[in-house]
Amino acid sequence: MITVIGLGFVGLTTGLGFAKKGFKVYGVDVAQGKVDLIKSGKVPFYEPHLEEALKETTGKTFFPTTDLSEAIANSELVFFCVGTPSDDEGRADLGQINGALTSVLSHVRKGDFKALVIKSTVPPSTTKEKVKPFIEKEGFEVGKDVGLANNPEFLREGYAWDDFVNPDRIVIGAEDERTRAILEKVYAPFGRPFYSVSWNTGEYIKYLSNTLLATLISYANEQSMLAYAVGDIDISKAFKILHQDKRWSGSPAGMTSYVYPGCGFGGYCLPKDTAALNALAAQKGYQSGILQNVINVNAQVKAFHLDRIMTACKKDENITVLGLAFKAESDDVRDTPAWYFINGLMEAGYKNIKAYDPLANHAYDLLYKQPLQYCKTMEEAIDNTEKVVVVTAWKEFKEKSDLLKDKVVFDLRYALNK
Ligand SMILES: NC(=O)c1ccc[n+]([C@@H]2O[C@H](COP(=O)([O-])OP(=O)(O)OC[C@H]3O[C@@H](n4cnc5c(N)ncnc54)[C@H](O)[C@@H]3O)[C@@H](O)[C@H]2O)c1
Repeated sequence: MITVIGLGFVGLTTGLGFAKKGFKVYGVDVAQGKVDLIKSGKVPFYEPHLEEALKETTGKTFFPTTDLSEAIANSELVFFCVGTPSDDEGRADLGQINGALTSVLSHVRKGDFKALVIKSTVPPSTTKEKVKPFIEKEGFEVGKDVGLANNPEFLREGYAWDDFVNPDRIVIGAEDERTRAILEKVYAPFGRPFYSVSWNTGEYIKYLSNTLLATLISYANEQSMLAYAVGDIDISKAFKILHQDKRWSGSPAGMTSYVYPGCGFGGYCLPKDTAALNALAAQKGYQSGILQNVINVNAQVKAFHLDRIMTACKKDENITVLGLAFKAESDDVRDTPAWYFINGLMEAGYKNIKAYDPLANHAYDLLYKQPLQYCKTMEEAIDNTEKVVVVTAWKEFKEKSDLLKDKVVFDLRYALNK
């Protein structure tokens, strides 16, 4: 049996993915409300296919619970999928990992080997320099009493199920044979390339991936600001023509979508992971030029667009924000650029802001509680408004772009005529 700790995007997908492959899985979370919701067959966030998998497996191979003792007693393998947010210095805050490790270890009996696997994104050297000493301080010998590995997750929100059940590759950072063998066994049914590397390498691969994506986005955003400065450049057309280069084509997962301008990357992963690798590099004595500038450009492009909007809009006029989620096909509003624009406008004294997102109105309101007028449809949102700011590249906005033809539109994602 497998225990998955933390039932967010990654943990719930992981738990259900293994349950669907026939393993018995305990899904544990400290949030009682979340567990109750999951037990009732509901997914606490928008993610296609998870609800079907939940209905199919709950009570048969998937067991959501807050009771760690039963879960750990019965499991040989424990995945940690808790959050790793940024601290004030941009470093990964390991509080949730340490909390979950302490709870799990309190249920581990010596002589009863458990493989502990960090699936949360943690900066390279964390397993070796932070997690291993932490476990040893709790009185367990790593490699003997417990196994320790990391297993970065590459899923994309909105495509989490498919990315998990059909991964491009499986990466584990493992340094004891027993843990490596357990992971190889549980991943065998996925039939995908399986790479077993050192602890540091496993963690590093995840940051290599996320910081490259962030770099591509900041490159495209910097180019868009440069193009504005030059003038008379059709930015979206220029990028689409760039994508026609045959060295780019055939990229199945849409790598080109990262080389396209917008209003800055957001969400739970790219901002915090780029900041964390940059902070780690500095701490280890390497001053990163590129990563620091990726972060700077991400701040600069948001300020650039906010300035454009404020220059064109009067404080007493209605402004409509289309899109609140950090990206389309998601209701995740963590670190969403929408917050930056709405907050910036409000701080500058703009009061009449209406907002509409096909999925994320509720999640946004819950997290940010700004005095916004939320609208149920795009039509309602743009009614009686001249200025419209498109912050998320939802298909609906493009499909209904005719409705916007008499408005002043700030298409911050270059999405309407993409
Ligand atoms: N969201 C993504 O697209 C994505 C993709 C790849 C990797 N990751 C990484 O995976 C990790 C989890 O991300 P997420 O988006 O699923 O986070 P999340 O915040 O949605 O979920 C984390 C869950 O862990 C629970 N939790 C916290 N402490 C706990 C404890 N002691 N015991 C049990 N449960 C506990 C929380 O209640 C929460 O439900 C992060 O490190 C993230 O960087 C995320």
